[in-house]
Amino acid sequence: MTSGTNRQRPVVLSGVQPSGRLTIGNYLGALKNWLPLHTEYDCHYMLVDLHSISVRQAPADRLERCYEFIALYIACGLDPDRNVLFVQSHVPAHSELAWILNCYTQYGELQRMTQFKDKSARHVDNVNAGLFCYPVLMAADILLYGAHRVPVGDDQRQHLELTRTVAQRFNREHGETFVVPETMTPPVGARIMGLQNPEAKMSKSEDAETNAIYLLDEPKRVERKIKRAVTDMDGGIRFDPDTKPGVSNLMSILSACTGDSFETIARDYDGKGYGTFKQAVADAVIAVLEPIQQHYTEIRADEEGLRGVLRAGAARASERAGGTMERVHHALGFIPA
Ligand code: TRP
Repeated sequence: MTSGTNRQRPVVLSGVQPSGRLTIGNYLGALKNWLPLHTEYDCHYMLVDLHSISVRQAPADRLERCYEFIALYIACGLDPDRNVLFVQSHVPAHSELAWILNCYTQYGELQRMTQFKDKSARHVDNVNAGLFCYPVLMAADILLYGAHRVPVGDDQRQHLELTRTVAQRFNREHGETFVVPETMTPPVGARIMGLQNPEAKMSKSEDAETNAIYLLDEPKRVERKIKRAVTDMDGGIRFDPDTKPGVSNLMSILSACTGDSFETIARDYDGKGYGTFKQAVADAVIAVLEPIQQHYTEIRADEEGLRGVLRAGAARASERAGGTMERVHHALGFIPA
């Protein structure tokens, strides 16, 4: 696989839908781990606005989410000079490659996607073709940049597997065209569960307000939510997700915020009661969120500045995408333009 000149660093790419609200799970479990990756990888992070239209959302809300998420990414420490930050719709090649890959993806393969089954059950009145072809657009996102590594949550593994299948199928038929990507699980990644339902991951879009801590929640609200988090009757502070999912989740949150190990946390708080422990968790979360929120307010206020970041990101992304599209057109026997 040729990857052009002077491009030794492997490519990382991930995307987020501009819907719902970013949570401490998104930060502690994903974003925070992305911050140092630029030293080893050529990192691309994008807002997948084209994906987001597969489910109805008011345009004004989508626009707000886009500004909010990109500003939050930067406020969390993703440096636009060291990472390519962009919006999917600014690079038209995503839609174009998605069409091409549609012709290399089997109907039956898409029917088996569990996210499609879930979403079509949840939105019975709008099971559109975009929802069905969603994973193909995602494959296009990834293959367009020759991404070697894709940091995603468990819920996206099946889509990544399909991306690999489609890339391999195309390569087999037309010669080496695409890099076959792999998922990336960060060495340390907290898996943050819901506060009310600690058996399931904290979600940015499906949870009841009290189940998640949002990055823009004010301190009082954070404290209230943590104080009301589900625990158990046994009273001990031990990391044991099977029998003590609530307490273990709060320990994960505390550990991710302070860097303290579970052993240290157990030693510091066992026997002190859940009230004291929860206060410590709340204080730690607030200490992490405060600087992010301050930084966010400044960045979000400058929409022109944000658009400048996104324009620069799209220009860099387009350059790489253009090279891939040329190879794809050639592989397919399209007349060079
Ligand atoms: N489908 C992903 C999600 O819902 C978002 C996404 C779209 C993505 N394109 C991507 C993630 C490319 C990684 C790479 O979480």
